[in-house]
Amino acid sequence: MRLLVTGATGLLGRELLLCAGKQAIDVVPAYHSQALPGGVQLDVRRRDQVRDVIRSVRPDGIIHTAYRQDDWATTALGAVNVALAAGSARLVFVSTDVVFGPRKTAYHEHEAPCPITPYGAAKAAAETAIHAIASDAVIARTSLIVGSDGRSVEEQRVRRLAAGEPGAFYTGNIRCPIHVTDLASALLELLRSDVNGITHVAGPEALSRLELGRLIAIRDGLNPEALPSIPGEPSEIQLDSRRTQAVLRTRLRAASEFLAA
Ligand SMILES: NC(=O)c1ccc[n+]([C@@H]2O[C@H](COP(=O)([O-])OP(=O)(O)OC[C@H]3O[C@@H](n4cnc5c(N)ncnc54)[C@H](OP(=O)(O)O)[C@@H]3O)[C@@H](O)[C@H]2O)c1
Repeated sequence: MRLLVTGATGLLGRELLLCAGKQAIDVVPAYHSQALPGGVQLDVRRRDQVRDVIRSVRPDGIIHTAYRQDDWATTALGAVNVALAAGSARLVFVSTDVVFGPRKTAYHEHEAPCPITPYGAAKAAAETAIHAIASDAVIARTSLIVGSDGRSVEEQRVRRLAAGEPGAFYTGNIRCPIHVTDLASALLELLRSDVNGITHVAGPEALSRLELGRLIAIRDGLNPEALPSIPGEPSEIQLDSRRTQAVLRTRLRAASEFLAA
């Protein structure tokens, strides 16, 4: 199988390249601003370029991770451009838990998006368009992505705050973190499965940003009590991933398990 990965220099993109390489998949990385060996340059905002790149690579599958949180053209229109150009390639689109707004109970796949941020709205628009263009595409909503090598936003924030830089963790901001390796492995499985439509691919444990930050601090030998916290606006968004987990061999681990010191 030839697989095109967009956003290949990103946190998830890099992990997908590693995991796919281990599975002997022929991966073509699509990078935006930092060149990668054997890769193709791609700006997903440019519809003609997206079409030409996909025509020349001729992938059997595409995992579309590229986005820019504050840019509708990249996140929404970019996803539309990829879906329009995908042709017969199997498409897996990475979406987010913030297509939903805060709620005390977990969200299931069949529930309609209700975003409260421009980023969430851009992803919800992309999901809707992709479903209309390629009804057999997989839409994989995920939550906070955490790695092991300090590259994720959450790990970097822990280091900065533990070093005394200004800022704080919100105690009321609750999500279902996932390890980047679990996510990459699950996406590759979904790519090769007969699953279509919306899937939830997040960790099984809901944690506040502060609880997550403390677990990262302990793993990294930092003082968890040194992390400042404030309540902030309550914002609880949980994805129920049990339906997707049931069809995966990859086990989506809880953050307290993958961050155990
Ligand atoms: N990180 C999380 O906690 C989290 C949580 C939920 C969902 N997600 C979703 O997971 C996916 C991957 O997230 P990530 O954390 O791996 O992202 P990331 O590390 O920020 O990487 C984003 C990638 O997109 C590329 N990109 C930006 N603009 C582009 C453009 N116009 N054309 C082509 N590529 C472009 C970037 O390349 P340049 O840097 O060269 O521009 C980069 O490689 C995203 O779709 C995101 O919505 C992430």
